[in-house]
This record gives sequence, C-alpha cells and structure tokens, in this order.
Amino acid sequence: MIGDAGVPVSITGLGAYAPDRVLDNAELERLVDTSDEWIIERTGIRERRIAAKEQALTDLALPGCEAALAQAGLTGKDIDLLIVATVTPDMSFPSAAVLLADRLGATTAGAYDLSAGCTGFVYALVQAYGMVAAGLAERALVVGGDVLSRILDWNDRSTVVLFGDGAGAVVLERSEQPGFLAFDLGADGSGGEHLWLPGSGSRLFDDPDKHVKMNGREVFKFATRILVQSAEDVLAKAGASIEDVDVYVPHQANVRIIDHATKKLGFPSDKVVINVERYGNTSSGSIPLALAEAQADGRLQAGKLVLMTGMGAGLTWGSALMRWTA
Ligand code: ACO
Repeated sequence: MIGDAGVPVSITGLGAYAPDRVLDNAELERLVDTSDEWIIERTGIRERRIAAKEQALTDLALPGCEAALAQAGLTGKDIDLLIVATVTPDMSFPSAAVLLADRLGATTAGAYDLSAGCTGFVYALVQAYGMVAAGLAERALVVGGDVLSRILDWNDRSTVVLFGDGAGAVVLERSEQPGFLAFDLGADGSGGEHLWLPGSGSRLFDDPDKHVKMNGREVFKFATRILVQSAEDVLAKAGASIEDVDVYVPHQANVRIIDHATKKLGFPSDKVVINVERYGNTSSGSIPLALAEAQADGRLQAGKLVLMTGMGAGLTWGSALMRWTA
C-alpha cells in the first residue's frame, strides 16, 4: 500500500510499560536445552519481561496509556478513537480496546482491536492517522502491546528465548506542522505458515496445541529483506534519504536482524534504537517501548526525523516516517 501523509497530524504523547518480572538467559538455561552464549550470539537478547499471572494485556497497556495522555495534556474522556494492536487481547471479546476505554474513562471513544502480528502498532498508527486526517476523529489513542508469554510453548527452545511482554501507547492529533510524512504497509499471506498460532480461531485442528509455531529461518530471511525494502519505500514516498533520518526504530526482534538492516541501509549505529537485549521481542509493544526509551534518554526530541519499521506474522510489514513534535 502506498500512502503519503497529506494532512498535518502528529504524535503529542507517548508512554510504555513492561512488567517487573525479569527472565534472564540463565533462568532459561534451567527451563530448556539452551545456553546464554547461544541466545546472545543468535539473537542479542539477554533478558525479557514476563507478565505476572494476574496481568493481562490491558493491565500492561494502562500505564503507557496514562503516560501518553499526561504528556499530551489530555485525559481519557478527550479521546474519541482508541485502537489496540495486539494478538493477545485479554479475551476474544469484549476487545482489549473496549476494556481499556472503560478504564481510561474514554466514554465517547470508538474502540476496537487490530490484528497484524508484530506490525500491528504501525498498522494502527496508519489507521488512526487516516481517521484524524479525515476528520472522523479528533484525538486518537493508539496502543501496541502483547503478552506473548501466554501463547508460547515453554518447552520449545526455538521460540521461548525470543519473546517478552510489554506495551506502549501514543496520542495522535491534528498539528500545526506535519508530523507524519509517509507510510508503507504490506502483507503477504502466502508466508503466513511461517509464524502462526493453531487453535486460536474458528479453524479446527486435530492437534489441540495452541502455541506459537515458527519457522525461524524463513522468518529471518523475510525480516532481513523487508526491513530494508520497507524503509527504502517509505523514504522514497517522502522524497527523503537515509542521511535525513535522525532516529531509526526498527521492530525489536533480534539484534542480528537489526544489524543486517542497519548496515544494508547505511545507518550509523548512533541513530539506531535497540533495546531488544533487555526486552526480547514484545511484538506490537516493541516500537512504542523503543520510542519511549529513546524519548526518556533524550534521543527523541522535537524536530527529529524518525523512521519506524515493523514486520511480523502475516507476514506483514509497515513503516512510518515522521517529524517528531511531542
Ligand atoms: N538454544 C540452543 N540451540 C537452539 C535453540 C536454542 N534456544 N534454538 C534452536 N537451536 C538449535 C536448532 O535446533 C538447530 O540445531 P540443529 O542444527 O542441530 O538442527 C541450531 O540451533 C540452528 O538453528 P537455526 O534455526 O538454523 O538457527 P538460526 O541461526 O536461524 O537462529 C533464530 C534461530 C534465532 C530463531 C533465527 O532464525 C531468527 O532470529 N529468526 C527470526 C525469528 C523472529 O524474529 N521471529 C519473530 C519475528 S516476527 C515477530 O516479531 C512476531
């Protein structure tokens, strides 16, 4: 999908949260046949956060929503659109967005969940942009987050080492100066078989196992190719170059995947936000968590040109290029 952002809409607030419980590689060594050395060499991940038993997605999302609203100088009742990008809502219905809207006091907001795998946050950004730009919503809250620990097979060493739990949120509003400049979205369902969750919907399976299945090598090949291609496409749409970008926020799946894309695109490492070593792959939470960290440490400031690229199950991908204004 090609989309040039023509109406000035920007992010005015940002927040993120990850649960307190840290699961490090040494603990994983005691659970499955793996080693700290293998995990670091193949993924760069040292530890990840895991939700407590009583925490569902909306519990992880709430603190980030509150922080984003506070930064925007708003409260829940100012929000008229709430989109939650996730593959692990609290339950199939009611949606996580409806539950969150209630907890935030967003009583007049249209609220729904969106499913696009780990690319969900970028898909939701594009959709909220469209609604705000079209005048269908004034202030949108976009949430990305997942509790993948709930859908992993904790005996499967090829997946448990990769993922963690976390969530984040941003507020979108019309702005004086353009925030979003261009988007790129794509999907290729023919690759769906490489990352999937059997038994999670209406298709019946003989095997009742309801855990994430992944063909790591195929996903790796896809990820390294698409991070580069989607970044190039969105920059071309905006007439911008790699040199123009100040902050690059790729989906935090694996340091090797990020390093490959960074080198191929030609980004100096100081422009690249990486926190996967401390959070693992938090799916839709990955980009907002990375943005929040970059804002907290001063890398993300008003005027900076920010490129975000997500990719994941579907297979899906998406990029957003924006001038940061918050
Ligand atoms: N510890 C030790 N050995 C392991 C582990 C582990 N945790 N996992 C796999 N191995 C073994 C395999 O069994 C295999 O052994 P074998 O050669 O005896 O068969 C060996 O390590 C090599 O396995 P590969 O799969 O070839 O290892 P690879 O270098 O491809 O790394 C990895 C695996 C890290 C999963 C990599 O393929 C990858 O990162 N893929 C992308 C995964 C990803 O990012 N998924 C999510 C993206 S989309 C989203 O965000 C939802």
